[in-house]
Amino acid sequence: MTIDYQWWKTATIYQIWPASYKDSNGDGIGDIPGIISTLDYLKDLGIDVIWLSPMYDSPQDDMGYDISDYQKIYPKYGTLEDMQNLIDGCHKRDMKIICDLVVNHTSSEHSWFKESRSSKTNPKRDWYIWKKPKYDEQGYRQPPNNWGSFFSGSAWEYDELTDEYYLRLFAKTQPDLNWENPETRDAIHNDALKWWFEKGVDGFRIDTAGLYSKNQAFPDAPIVFPDSIYQPSGRLAHNGPRIHEFHKEMYEKVTSNYDAFTVGEVGDCTKEEALEYVSKSSHEMNSIFLFDVVELGCDKKDRFRYNGWDLIDLKKAVENQCDFVKGTDAWATSFIENHDQPRCITRFGNQKNFSKSGKLLAMLETTLTGTLFIYQGQEIGMTNLPRSWGIEEYKDINTINYYNAFKQQYGKDADFKEKEEKLMDVINLISRDHARSPVQWNSDNYGGFSTVEPWTRVNDNYKEINVENQLYDKSSILQFYKQSLKLRKKYKDLFIYGTFEILDYGNKKLFTYIKKSPTSNPPKAYVVLNFSTDSVKFERLIDSSFELVHANVEDVDDDLLSPYEGRVYIVE
Ligand code: GLC
Ligand code: CA
Repeated sequence: MTIDYQWWKTATIYQIWPASYKDSNGDGIGDIPGIISTLDYLKDLGIDVIWLSPMYDSPQDDMGYDISDYQKIYPKYGTLEDMQNLIDGCHKRDMKIICDLVVNHTSSEHSWFKESRSSKTNPKRDWYIWKKPKYDEQGYRQPPNNWGSFFSGSAWEYDELTDEYYLRLFAKTQPDLNWENPETRDAIHNDALKWWFEKGVDGFRIDTAGLYSKNQAFPDAPIVFPDSIYQPSGRLAHNGPRIHEFHKEMYEKVTSNYDAFTVGEVGDCTKEEALEYVSKSSHEMNSIFLFDVVELGCDKKDRFRYNGWDLIDLKKAVENQCDFVKGTDAWATSFIENHDQPRCITRFGNQKNFSKSGKLLAMLETTLTGTLFIYQGQEIGMTNLPRSWGIEEYKDINTINYYNAFKQQYGKDADFKEKEEKLMDVINLISRDHARSPVQWNSDNYGGFSTVEPWTRVNDNYKEINVENQLYDKSSILQFYKQSLKLRKKYKDLFIYGTFEILDYGNKKLFTYIKKSPTSNPPKAYVVLNFSTDSVKFERLIDSSFELVHANVEDVDDDLLSPYEGRVYIVE
């Protein structure tokens, strides 16, 4: 079989969330010169592409996912010249850079929205989604429908000036753009995409790529949460009737004109729905993030309703992610962290086996099919925030709004303290804040992220877990990532382009799978991962002979796998 090699398939992509990456000028906020100062570190780690989370001008209500000007840089991150230096700095090192494309909504501070809001007859009125109020039986004004925001409360915001509501599926300062209007789409293509391609950007991670086409009747959503007034908009906003038309247009008019990589964030969707976006013949996006792994145990419609997981659930999730492209012309991704997710080592690893479980997760992720993504700090095993920290240390609008809505609903209950503790347990496990604490560069104050107190608190464990320590320690997680990334490239047909098959589905301690290459170069890998705190008997599940090429322990025992031990064998 021949392989359709593409640079963006083979690439290892490193996500940078600028506010918390590296502060170069001592104001406590990460910035672009800070990123530039680490390019050699990233190159040496084995990174091919940087994905930069939003660096555009923004009031930062949702940390830059609320853009007020697509063509300006948030001043605290730097200037356009800095950004050009970053683009050029990547290219000089033979790396590429992709940006975040946030075009389901803008900030309410964007000039488009300011015009739109100014009067019902403004030419840009129709660039956003405005609706008249509804009135209930008592004559009280109500939103046009019962859709809930992803950030709690109604998805509609009342605007007194014109006595109408605008739709905002996220924060109230993130009004949704009206993609039905061709003029709006043109402006998006020109301002947010083409302009950056011309500056040398190599592609985009496409934010909320499934939300652009809303059901134009805007009907009430079915009741999923009876304890809540507002309901998830579900398929009324997701994967809507014109969504593929919009993506095909963007491909045809813009992205296909460049040697670009696009990867979409499409939340809740079935395998068939996902394939439609990324089948090569669809001419839409190159690839898509599926959330099976990172959302394990969470209610898909409300991340803070958490039910836990076991290893069989994890196997199923990994299988869904690897397998969804099997036998198709589409392409997958392998990721286990991003800026919206907690730290994988806390989530899927084990504190007592910190280093070993961190390496185990590296082995899992770097042997899976698809384009590989690593999130800042993942390579050193950064952990979630300590449980002892109170809600005041959490800064994310999603967490804060949820906590406040919860308090409003249950604050007067006699057992509120208990309820609150339970919620804090969940927040401590899965909130987005865990990905957003400053990167721990060394054991100086503030983890070497900054010389002053950062905008958000550095994790207490920065003296033990930091880049500098791990650079000089041969047995560190960081060094292990480097080796794992090299191995992935060496056997790319197998790991990146190969198929995936689980050999021990029912086993709750071991996760064993085969990767099979579409070429015979080499034909197979046999991966055995112990996800338990027990020593487990090693049983051969294949007949052929195999050779050990990677392990997270120094001495491999023929009969026994120690807790969190992992091995990769090449099968001859
Ligand atoms: C995406 C981003 C998330 C952001 C949201 C609204 O889900 O990943 O961080 O809050 O879109 O733009
Ligand atoms: Ca700074």
